[in-house]
Amino acid sequence: MIGRLNHVGVAVPSIEAAKATYRDLYGVQESAITETRELPAQGVRFSFVNVENSQIELIEPLGENSPILKFLERNPAGGQHHVCFEVADIYAARDEMQRKGATVLNEPRIGAHGTLIIFVHPKNSNGVLIELMETPKGAHA
Ligand code: CO
Repeated sequence: MIGRLNHVGVAVPSIEAAKATYRDLYGVQESAITETRELPAQGVRFSFVNVENSQIELIEPLGENSPILKFLERNPAGGQHHVCFEVADIYAARDEMQRKGATVLNEPRIGAHGTLIIFVHPKNSNGVLIELMETPKGAHA
């Protein structure tokens, strides 16, 4: 059973431009937008835009093998890329997904929040790529 919606992932050609959109058009305070960081192993640069009840994860390709390059070829202006739900135990979630016949796209690995994540193929979820992320210890206490 999935828990909280943690974030919505949005692929963008330029994180800095996307940050400006959330700041200037939608009025998000600069202090609510995290520094851009890199996850070279996953081929992305990312930043979180914090809103009252959730986050938007902006992701930009990093390197020529980035998994989001193809997505941006199809969606040059960017687009909604994935939805992330929290789970209590990532290995239990993976096993249950596989037992139910879903296609889990990767072994649990460290994601942008520093906890383990997996992705479930969009074909299993009405065309939406789903990220499952282990709830950070001590979060939402
Ligand atoms: Co994500």
